Amino acid sequence: MSYANIKVEVDGHLAIVYINRPDKLNALNNDTISELTQCVEEMSTNEEIGAVILTGAGEKAFVAGADIGMLVDQGVVDGRGNAAHGQRLTRLMENSPKPYLAAINGYALGGGLELALACDMRYASTKARLGLPEVSLGIIPGYGGTQRLPRLVGMGRALEMILTADPLSAEDACRVGLVNAVFEPEQLLESVKAIANKIVSRGPTAVGLAKQAAHRGADLPISEGLSVEADLFGVASSTDEMKEGLRAFLEKRDPSWKRQ
Ligand code: COA
Repeated sequence: MSYANIKVEVDGHLAIVYINRPDKLNALNNDTISELTQCVEEMSTNEEIGAVILTGAGEKAFVAGADIGMLVDQGVVDGRGNAAHGQRLTRLMENSPKPYLAAINGYALGGGLELALACDMRYASTKARLGLPEVSLGIIPGYGGTQRLPRLVGMGRALEMILTADPLSAEDACRVGLVNAVFEPEQLLESVKAIANKIVSRGPTAVGLAKQAAHRGADLPISEGLSVEADLFGVASSTDEMKEGLRAFLEKRDPSWKRQ
């Protein structure tokens, strides 16, 4: 599938998705969000893909936000629609069985940080800046930032970022748990690929079920979350993948996974 605003590279069982409008610092217009949505839907059912890395084309930005030109004339109805469009994309990423890793190579602002927040893991280059500047523009985060950031870093830190609109350096973002690790710019993508390939070497169905258990449980009281976990443990126990994984351990060999 070819796209105008994103570029997809396949490397083994990894898909590397570049948001590809470098002259606009990869700002998300509606077409880009639609293309990303279609791409996430395709990845979810692609048996050959075990993990997806999102990154930005060019040197400067992961994504510098929603396209401000698209927002300037919005009213109540299309404003709500713009938020819903981005929220649908971010929810699809969370609900996908494929792990998403953000390789944040520069500015991750507004909708760009919200896209990264919908990834399962985030890694940043030393030159990344991460923030939610919306209130400095008279709007609020609309692609999930007010909901996902407090869940990730706690209410106080999240509201400081949202209400001051000040971005964090990569090091500060790592300190508060917003990103998992920081790499030199030239090592970022290869380092994230190495982490993604580790995931890809594990049981593919188990990886998808474990992701599902964590995301579904995050919104539930622990007793209900544990029930979800037990249900999904049952699902994992019904697979040939489980038989292969456990037998391989007992037979002291590497497992041979089927992608299905
Ligand atoms: N929407 C639309 N266009 C954007 C954009 C956005 N969110 N962010 C950057 N651009 C465009 C600029 O308008 C400029 O386009 P032009 O060359 O046609 O004028 C181009 O990308 C380069 O940006 P520029 O501002 O010249 O780069 P810079 O290095 O001086 O500054 C930023 C970089 C990220 C600090 C600055 O671009 C910025 O503040 N962007 C907006 C961030 C934001 O508020 N995002 C949340 C939106 S809800």
